[in-house]
Amino acid sequence: MTEKSFKGKTVLITAGPTYEPIDPVRFIGNHSTGKMGYALAECFAAHGAAVQLVSGPTSLHTNHTNVEVKRVTTAEEMYKAVLKRADAADIWVFAAAVADYRPKTVADKKIKKAGDELTIELVKNVDIAAALGKEKEEWQFSVGFALETDNEAANAREKLRKKNLDMIVLNSLKDPGAGFAHDTNKITIIEEEATHTFELKKKSEVAQDIVDLIWKRTNG
Ligand code: CTP
Repeated sequence: MTEKSFKGKTVLITAGPTYEPIDPVRFIGNHSTGKMGYALAECFAAHGAAVQLVSGPTSLHTNHTNVEVKRVTTAEEMYKAVLKRADAADIWVFAAAVADYRPKTVADKKIKKAGDELTIELVKNVDIAAALGKEKEEWQFSVGFALETDNEAANAREKLRKKNLDMIVLNSLKDPGAGFAHDTNKITIIEEEATHTFELKKKSEVAQDIVDLIWKRTNG
C-alpha cells in the first residue's frame, strides 16, 4: 500500500461511545475511548482516503487534513450524521460503541434523590450498522466490530450476517491488554469465508492490519 492507495475513496467511520441523557446532568454511557476509530481514521487518511469521522464524546482529536470530524452525543444524533454521509462513502467502518438503549424519557430538571430505589425505563436505540446494512449497494464495503465474552467467533459471525457486513473485527475481552482504554488490541478479523488472527499490537498497528485487508478486498 502507498499513501495514494485510497485516493478518490471516501471512508465513513463511527467512533467512541454515545451518551444517552437521563436528565440535564446525567447520562448512560460506556468506557469506549474512541482510540480504535481514530487510529483507523488516521490510517485511511495517511493512505489518501477522504475520511468522514462521526465521533461520540471523546477527548481525542485528529489534525489530519483528510479527516473531517462530526461530533455527536447520542445514538440518534450519530445515526442522523451517518445517514447524511453514507450514500457518498465507498467504505463504512462502524467502530463506535453505540448504547443499545436510552432512557424512555429525559427529565428536564435534575432528578432529586427520593426513596431507596430508582427505576429508569429504557427503550432500544437504532442499530446503525444494521440499518445501513439494509441500504448497502454492491460497490460499498462495510466493516463492523464485535466485543464478545463467550462463543466469540459464532456470535461475531452471526453479527456479520445480521448487519450485512463484509468483515467483522472481533475484540476479545479475555485477552489481557485488549479492548477499552488500552493502547493495544488483539483482534480476529472474520469474513464469510475466512478468519484471520493477529498478535497483541498497538492500536495504530492494528488499524494498519485492518486497513490492509480492506484494501485487498476492495482492490482484489
Ligand atoms: N452497532 C451500531 N449501532 C448500535 C449497536 C451496534 O452501529 N446501536 C455496531 C457497532 O458499532 C459494531 C457492531 O454494531 O460495529 C456490533 O456491536 P455490538 O454492540 O457488539 O453488537 P450488538 O448488535 O449491539 O449486540 P450485543 O450488544 O447484544 O452483543
